[in-house]
Amino acid sequence: MSPLLFILLHLALALSNAAHAQLLFQGFNWQSWNNTEGWYRHLKGLVPQLVESSVTHVWLPPPSQSAAREGYMPGRLYDLNASTYGTEADLRDLIKTLNANGIKAVADIVINHRTAETKDSRGIWAVFEGGTPDDRLDWGPWAICKDDKEYSDGTGNLDTGVDFQPAPDMDHLNPRIQNELSEWLNWLKSSIGFEGWRLDFSRGYSGKLAGMYFDRSKPDFAVGEIWSGLVYGNDSKPQYNQDKHRQELVDWVHETGDLGMAFDFTTKLLMNEALKDELWRLKDGNGKPIGLIGLLPEKAVTFVDNHDTYSQNLAPTPRDKVMLAYAYIFTHPGIPSFFYDHYFEWGKKTEIVQMSAIRKRNRIGPKSAVRILAADSDLYVAAIDEKIYMKIGSRYEVGDLVPSDFEVVMSGNDYAIWEKKK
Ligand SMILES: *[C@@H]1O[C@H](CO)[C@@H](O)[C@H](O)[C@H]1NC(C)=O
Ligand SMILES: *[C@@H]1O[C@H](CO)[C@@H](O)[C@H](O)[C@H]1NC(C)=O
Ligand SMILES: *[C@@H]1O[C@H](CO)[C@@H](O)[C@H](O)[C@H]1NC(C)=O
Repeated sequence: MSPLLFILLHLALALSNAAHAQLLFQGFNWQSWNNTEGWYRHLKGLVPQLVESSVTHVWLPPPSQSAAREGYMPGRLYDLNASTYGTEADLRDLIKTLNANGIKAVADIVINHRTAETKDSRGIWAVFEGGTPDDRLDWGPWAICKDDKEYSDGTGNLDTGVDFQPAPDMDHLNPRIQNELSEWLNWLKSSIGFEGWRLDFSRGYSGKLAGMYFDRSKPDFAVGEIWSGLVYGNDSKPQYNQDKHRQELVDWVHETGDLGMAFDFTTKLLMNEALKDELWRLKDGNGKPIGLIGLLPEKAVTFVDNHDTYSQNLAPTPRDKVMLAYAYIFTHPGIPSFFYDHYFEWGKKTEIVQMSAIRKRNRIGPKSAVRILAADSDLYVAAIDEKIYMKIGSRYEVGDLVPSDFEVVMSGNDYAIWEKKK
């Protein structure tokens, strides 16, 4: 083999390894603003423990000055010194430490809506300040969507997504807004060191516009929050078929020009129900996983809980079943993620580290193949890439579903994972 060919082969292998290994950590919860040490400093001290999980990306809270302490009502986007999480210097320091450990930082991008610095001549909060001495991101009421009833001066374009009630929705069809927000994203990249975006409230503007921002800022990791309710039947339970719910995620991904991924809310929300002894829900009519991972796994970011679903109690995973949900996402396709509380506060670090190691050494990746062997009320069993078997559910016996040349390498309360015997 020529040296050049040798190098190219190894480069290709390294790249495919990198894609396989992607793992996201949500590095905050809804109370993080209240940390006495300052959140960025606190998290910096935890990086050595985080490394054990082989995490590749850390999702940080919205970095800019905000009218709400958690950061989701941002105003002066360039001002990173007025955050409850710490100063711009603290943030740079945290990102430097993450990078030194081979981890990339993902920013929470809140651009659907924005809070104003002052009132306009009508007495409405509609004069926006960028947070720099110059006029970048200094906008007026013209920047607000025409159909935003409380704030609009009637000159903007119509909103391309759903309305966010508590704050003015920005007119993303306006070229100046597109240019200045793209410039801001590129500043977060080149100056602060972020390498990826998690788009907040992605239903608030079109997937096409999200794709435009991805195209103009070239993130290494891009995921959107498309959170709709499941389709319910007349027994006040989710219907079995949730194709409509997950199709919305597929459509959004395609609208971004396939530049973005979506959090797999279908899997997450159905898991909440399935874990109540309704594991039959996890297999769709075609024998595939029920969520986005059953349709477009390479564009799905799976998760168990986050700052909304758990911290604000909006759709929490049943507390005693959290590790069953992790056993599922760490063995299944998509890009898994894990949550600060579970890793650092609930004592689940050892189990998560072990699951991540199993995923890594078996090269389970976003497009791994799932063969579902059982999906009953109390038992779900699947083979992934024919390399590992997993089960969740209260039924202990899996019968002969798992071949005898496989052995249990990890187990916990109502879950187990098998690998081939050496
Ligand atoms: C903030 O944290 C302190 C403890 O450090 C706690 O007593 C207080 O209730 C918290 N405040 C809120 C609003 O969560
Ligand atoms: C934030 O603080 C840093 C240093 O303390 C300074 O360089 C930067 O200009 C400040 N940014 C703003 C928007 O005030
Ligand atoms: C709703 O209830 C009716 C009977 O009351 C039943 O025939 C139908 O299948 C139910 N629909 C769903 C979606 O559960």
